[in-house]
Amino acid sequence: MAKSTGDELKMESMRAIPPDSLRTVALIAAVGLNRAIGKDGQLLWRLPEDMRHFRDTTRGKPVVMGRKTWESLPETFRPLPGRLNIVVTHNREYSARGALVAASLGDALQMAGDAPEIFVIGGAELYRQAMPIAHRLHLTEVADRPDADAFFPEVNADAWEEVSREAVRAAGTVPDFAFVEYRRRKH
Ligand SMILES: NC(=O)c1ccc[n+]([C@@H]2O[C@H](COP(=O)([O-])OP(=O)(O)OC[C@H]3O[C@@H](n4cnc5c(N)ncnc54)[C@H](OP(=O)(O)O)[C@@H]3O)[C@@H](O)[C@H]2O)c1
Repeated sequence: MAKSTGDELKMESMRAIPPDSLRTVALIAAVGLNRAIGKDGQLLWRLPEDMRHFRDTTRGKPVVMGRKTWESLPETFRPLPGRLNIVVTHNREYSARGALVAASLGDALQMAGDAPEIFVIGGAELYRQAMPIAHRLHLTEVADRPDADAFFPEVNADAWEEVSREAVRAAGTVPDFAFVEYRRRKH
């Protein structure tokens, strides 16, 4: 897929979410110190507390994901229960059992109906497209720099304000991590 510019991405997504909308678009991800989020189509860490945090944060909310992230979920976990699952793909024939299929991020946001909060849950392509229109980021910041092929976009401190942080101490082989929430600054 040809890479779109930031402005084009923003325009495309704003057709679904006008700037004065009361809806919140939130991104949720587990991110390394090098912004790593995945390798070979898989997650980088198995953090049970983070799984719980993800489940509790997104419960009852529509979740939007790229086709590759959908396919990376174990079949027993998809669709993610208790949430409207929306999968974005260019493939018009694609079928995802238990999920809606959208032709673009903008379409996915429209399919979420009038839900007040929508979560974009990955992967790298979807985060990149949703970042320009996101209001909130829920990042699990992991104190690790793993080898990776999928990365979260830069979180620019001029644009994003940290509003909460809960540190979690490492146990066994699991690295330290923190649940951090950011809100887009109003300029
Ligand atoms: N650490 C975390 O929190 C986290 C969370 C989620 C995922 N991940 C990781 O991220 C990696 C996957 O990320 P990824 O960037 O490779 O894939 P992805 O974003 O999950 O999915 C990419 C696919 O989504 C579809 N797509 C993207 N933009 C589209 C658009 N505008 N219109 C229509 N379809 C569109 C395309 O599907 P088609 O090719 O079918 O057209 C594209 O190939 C994996 O390693 C996964 O484990 C990590």
